[in-house]
Amino acid sequence: MTQPKSDPNSDTVDAVILVGGQGTRLRPLTLSAAKPMLPTAGVPFLEHMLSRIHAAGMTHVVLGTSYKAQTFAEYFGDGSAFGLDIEYVVEDEPLGTGGAIRNVADRLRADTAVIFNGDILSGLDLTALLATHRHLAADVTLHLVEVADARAFGSVPTDPDGRVTAFLEKTEHPPTNQINAGCYVFKRSVLEAIPAGRVVSVERETFPGLLESGAVLAGHVDSTYWLDLGTPAAFVTGSADLVRGVAPTAALPGPVGDALILDGASVAATASVIGGSTVGRGVVIEAGAVVDGSVIFDGARVDRDARITRSVIGSDARIGADSIVDDAVIGDRALVGARCELRSGIRVWPDVNLPAGSVRFSTDG
Ligand code: GTP
Repeated sequence: MTQPKSDPNSDTVDAVILVGGQGTRLRPLTLSAAKPMLPTAGVPFLEHMLSRIHAAGMTHVVLGTSYKAQTFAEYFGDGSAFGLDIEYVVEDEPLGTGGAIRNVADRLRADTAVIFNGDILSGLDLTALLATHRHLAADVTLHLVEVADARAFGSVPTDPDGRVTAFLEKTEHPPTNQINAGCYVFKRSVLEAIPAGRVVSVERETFPGLLESGAVLAGHVDSTYWLDLGTPAAFVTGSADLVRGVAPTAALPGPVGDALILDGASVAATASVIGGSTVGRGVVIEAGAVVDGSVIFDGARVDRDARITRSVIGSDARIGADSIVDDAVIGDRALVGARCELRSGIRVWPDVNLPAGSVRFSTDG
């Protein structure tokens, strides 16, 4: 990796990434891997995030883990291969977002920490975020993005100076389209004041409590690129955006383009892989097949003339000839027979064997 540049003060800032969630919305993919470890544009999603942190000049990273905790250390080790110094903190029981932040307090080395939700793909300028935090002498600074419909998010109105005036988690009538984007700068003393050893939601408890107590919460609006990869639809979109260079990363294992074909994959000359699709190691795509805007995990097989659109095909799964797979998630090792039609958010569980000609439009796979 190239040497980090940017904020001269960023080496005095710790990075904390919350990666302990179960990722229930991404099942069955998250039955075998934690969400931040899912192969996304050729590498674990977290590697893209770490490349952004490295590029901003931060080097000390603490991962707050719980679900499938050991898999993070197995892949990233002490972080030196990524130009980073990575530490791991394991929660025996998930402590929620606030509890997980508090739980890493004794590993911090600086007076300022940037906290990241480990499932957000973002073009946020971290140097500018830290500048806002210092300029407003804030206790906490939140990354905010503007969305068309804020009802499904935490809406966060700010005053003209950028100070947060309220924090409203998922409300029917949001007062603003600015939402909590899942990345925060914390003064260490504020982080240490979160109650230790119990479940705490930073969104529902910590932020509203801080506002009530008169703490300074700043909002930093940056809507360059932002995507929460929590759902299958968002996951395939984010992966395709990374492959096509729409979402920023320094960790793409190949050139930016319409498709990322990893080593050892075999794509027939008459097959078409487009729309930012990723084809994993050892995958076979047979003649006439079309793979569009999709992610094919290692070892899977797509038989002749099958059409796969906006879908994830799990490791070692097989899609039979002439099948149509559209907006679907196919679990690891599942066998989809020839001429099947799978659409509209269907999820096929790992190891399931769908007979030839099956048609599924719901989640009853
Ligand atoms: P869903 O079950 O699909 O909602 O996904 P999730 O479990 O990842 O929850 P959510 O998307 O709300 O979590 C946001 C971020 O916080 C993710 O990066 C999670 O890994 C992380 N996270 C959520 N809960 C915990 C927790 O209890 N401990 C830790 N360490 N991280 C958490």
